[in-house]
Amino acid sequence: MFCGSVLIAGTLLARSALAYTQVNFNQPIFYKNIDPLVFPGSYTTSHLHTFFGSDGVTAHTTTSSELQAGCTNGENPNDLSVYWVPTLLYKDAEGVFKPVPLSRFSAYYNLGQDPAEVPIPQNLMMLAGNASNQASGTLDPSAGIQWFCEGQDVPVGTNGFPTSTCNTHLQTLLLFPSCVNDQTLKTAYKSAGYGTPNRCPEGMKSMSQLRFSIRYDLRKALPAGWTGEAPLKLACGNAYCSHGDFINGWTEESAMTMVDTTREKRVFYPIDGTFGGYKDRPTCKPADKEPELGTSDYDESVKTLGKRAWGSRV
Ligand SMILES: *[C@@H]1O[C@H](CO)[C@@H](O)[C@H](O)[C@H]1NC(C)=O
Repeated sequence: MFCGSVLIAGTLLARSALAYTQVNFNQPIFYKNIDPLVFPGSYTTSHLHTFFGSDGVTAHTTTSSELQAGCTNGENPNDLSVYWVPTLLYKDAEGVFKPVPLSRFSAYYNLGQDPAEVPIPQNLMMLAGNASNQASGTLDPSAGIQWFCEGQDVPVGTNGFPTSTCNTHLQTLLLFPSCVNDQTLKTAYKSAGYGTPNRCPEGMKSMSQLRFSIRYDLRKALPAGWTGEAPLKLACGNAYCSHGDFINGWTEESAMTMVDTTREKRVFYPIDGTFGGYKDRPTCKPADKEPELGTSDYDESVKTLGKRAWGSRV
């Protein structure tokens, strides 16, 4: 049933026998130039992002309950979280930048990690990676950012993407902080600086670590492939500005169940809950709540950013 997942877990099982869970998304809910975490309330200051999960999200979202009132496009109806990343773009035959089609977005929780002390708190918002970073040397190692051809060993070029086309998917990984203060909702990565093995800082407890794994399908977008510098970019720049954002929308009940996943010695732990089984998929259809605000067009988003940069010096 979970052939793909078992394969991935298989490589990690040597290190850890603790269970993980996973939520898959086959398509984005929308592309939009908003960022409720970094630019709350703004429709003009963000680059283009690709959103997955609950359509309760707008530029103003700050709570789990707003997401839980929405509809998700993920397979687990108990996960009303929202997940977003800068849009990956390719240049089409007319020279226009278009979003690279998605193969699958997977949110993994606790893949190869230690037992969690606390559930992921309601209203938790967090970010991994750095949208301003443009070089490999300044990547935050804790975020574990990688871009690679799935199942192939292709070196990356100066823009951080593989230097030749992928036989199957272009894949990227991103790790989120796994320490949280459940009162202030501040987060941090575990580190050897706080104790061995890697610990959370004073005042924080460990929660399931969220990891993004995104597979892009380049075969239709770039059928002729490439060699050398990949004709790809992120809406924030090259591959090194890779980042991701998350607002927790798991029901409180399911967030509690997830703590158990981190203590069980099994491979995959399904999180069933009040809204259904872990693969039941919601019957609702997600839709942008504010289609008239912001843009889902890359060129338009760049123009908006340009205007903003020129006009915002007041
Ligand atoms: C993000 O990256 C930029 C450019 O490398 C750097 O100046 C900045 O300090 C980084 N921010 C953080 C929070 O690490």
